[in-house]
Amino acid sequence: MIDAAGCGRASAPRMADIEGFRVMALLARARALEAAGRDIVHMEIGEPDFPTPAPVVRAAQAALAAGRTHYTPAAGLPALREAIAGWYRDRFGVAVAPERVLVTPGASGALHLVLAVLAGPGDRVLLPEPGYPCNRHLVRLLEACAVGVDAEGGGPAPEIVGAAARGGAAALLVASPANPTGAVLPRARLAALAAEARRAGACLVCDEIYQGLAYETEACTVLEVAPGAFVVNSFSKYFGMTGWRLGWIVAPPAWLEPLERLAQNLYLAAPTLSQHAALAAFTPEALDELERRREAFRARRDYLAPALESLGFRLAAPPEGAFYLYADCSAFTDDAEAFAARLLEEAGVAVTPGADFGGAHAGRRLRFAYTAPIERLREGVERLRSFLGRPRRTG
Ligand SMILES: Cc1ncc(COP(=O)(O)O)c(C=O)c1O
Repeated sequence: MIDAAGCGRASAPRMADIEGFRVMALLARARALEAAGRDIVHMEIGEPDFPTPAPVVRAAQAALAAGRTHYTPAAGLPALREAIAGWYRDRFGVAVAPERVLVTPGASGALHLVLAVLAGPGDRVLLPEPGYPCNRHLVRLLEACAVGVDAEGGGPAPEIVGAAARGGAAALLVASPANPTGAVLPRARLAALAAEARRAGACLVCDEIYQGLAYETEACTVLEVAPGAFVVNSFSKYFGMTGWRLGWIVAPPAWLEPLERLAQNLYLAAPTLSQHAALAAFTPEALDELERRREAFRARRDYLAPALESLGFRLAAPPEGAFYLYADCSAFTDDAEAFAARLLEEAGVAVTPGADFGGAHAGRRLRFAYTAPIERLREGVERLRSFLGRPRRTG
């Protein structure tokens, strides 16, 4: 009997635990409805709707014209590592030696590398729940053991992490601002989490991919309060470069050699053109544009959060960053996945069910992304209002 793949073997056992993203199936269905002529309001998409800033595109065109298409060193272009180190100096007042920066294929590549050097079979890795879905699957891929720590109300509380870490842990992975809650961990909380990790003999890894997209406080980095932490970051979100597949790690010096060795083996180097392009991401022209976009995201959030609350959704955390609102939809359903499917089919509004992000309440949560222009968000809210039979607010 030949299996579907045609090589006569079943997939490795771990594959039974590695799930796809529900949002991808939902997006595919939304696209199919659009192809059939329906108008869909997209609030499921986890990437900025803005194009890559013009200076970045121009830099890529120049690099291509100059024939810069060969591999770079595995750790990245020296000039880009320096530019990233300069970003920490200029924006956060933190000294990072360029040698501590490793350029990766997205934060995805960075998370894979960092978790792989830290966690082996059976090691416990503490992960916020709800959290970015890939993390638990990466941990599974490494045959390590994901231990969820509740992060609903605005990030994991140090006491909860401390209790979970008593069983031992190789790493504590947090994100700030966070996906899906939009919660931002203040410096004091980051310092307390770093202390808990240290006490447990675990390394703290902070995913700062939404850094720069903070609306209540100045963006910060964990390195301001925990210089020994691992940082994962990316050009995808704030810099508007999702498709360029480029991110980075800032690692403690002793970890650079194993990270680089693994990078060589996993992917040789991050995409060369993207690296040349990203050199222009830190220019004043690009940064001015990115700050204007941040203001646009803020205006969308300021519209969408109260609008959803007026419909009967409750926000699970103060939405202080990223471009997501994580909403409790228990006023309407105990099955957020089926509810999201109905919203798409009947109201023409696409949102992501909480099941992608895990946690005890996932069945009663929806993630709304404000990655669409404000007029589209208004249209989405009006459709939700009709669907839910809610009266329009007065005043
Ligand atoms: C929290 C978080 N980390 C990492 C990633 C991966 O991003 P990328 O590989 O595009 O840099 C994402 C993408 O949505 C994310 O939300």
